[in-house]
Amino acid sequence: MNTLDAILKRRSIRDFKDTIVKDEDIEKLLIAAMAAPSAKNMRPWEFYVIKDKEIQDKVKKVSPYTDKNSPLIIVCAGRVKTLNNSLDELNGFWIHDVSAAIENILLEATELGLGSLWCGLFPHLDRSSLVKEILNLEDDVHPLGLIHIGYANEIKEERTQYEESKVHYI
Ligand SMILES: Cc1cc2nc3c(=O)[nH]c(=O)nc-3n(C[C@H](O)[C@H](O)[C@H](O)COP(=O)(O)O)c2cc1C
Repeated sequence: MNTLDAILKRRSIRDFKDTIVKDEDIEKLLIAAMAAPSAKNMRPWEFYVIKDKEIQDKVKKVSPYTDKNSPLIIVCAGRVKTLNNSLDELNGFWIHDVSAAIENILLEATELGLGSLWCGLFPHLDRSSLVKEILNLEDDVHPLGLIHIGYANEIKEERTQYEESKVHYI
């Protein structure tokens, strides 16, 4: 699949089949994730691959928006030092870096015939801190988002959202 095809084919899937995702495919998703660009090549990311159903259920329930029926969840987090111990003052480009890794996972999932859904956690602190607590993460690890992955049980057409008016040639 060429890159633009994968980009246009990727859609948010919110209903999944039970079929499990193969370990070799999970590894490809993570290889894609960690090939993402990151500021100063700091790679401040951590990935938590959740196969355990009980933990999945707890994580899904952190909000109605994250509660979907996929067989696999990957929580994508940034390992970041806080300034003055304040979450509002988390420093650096970690959100950009982890977001780039998330998008790479979504695109590789598309290539592998898998559906995916990016669910935001941070900066909704109620969601991110609950996930942090459930997974018992270290203090400097902040969950940015979770990804549902599995075989789609719904059809979403590929589409472009190109809008000429958003483009400004200078
Ligand atoms: C940062 C971010 C957070 C998102 N959070 C959620 C979420 O919590 N629940 C959900 O169902 N979709 C979530 N989405 C998916 C968007 O709703 C979706 O990408 C958008 O509607 C466009 O549809 P598409 O992905 O099919 O192109 C999120 C997407 C992003 C980029």
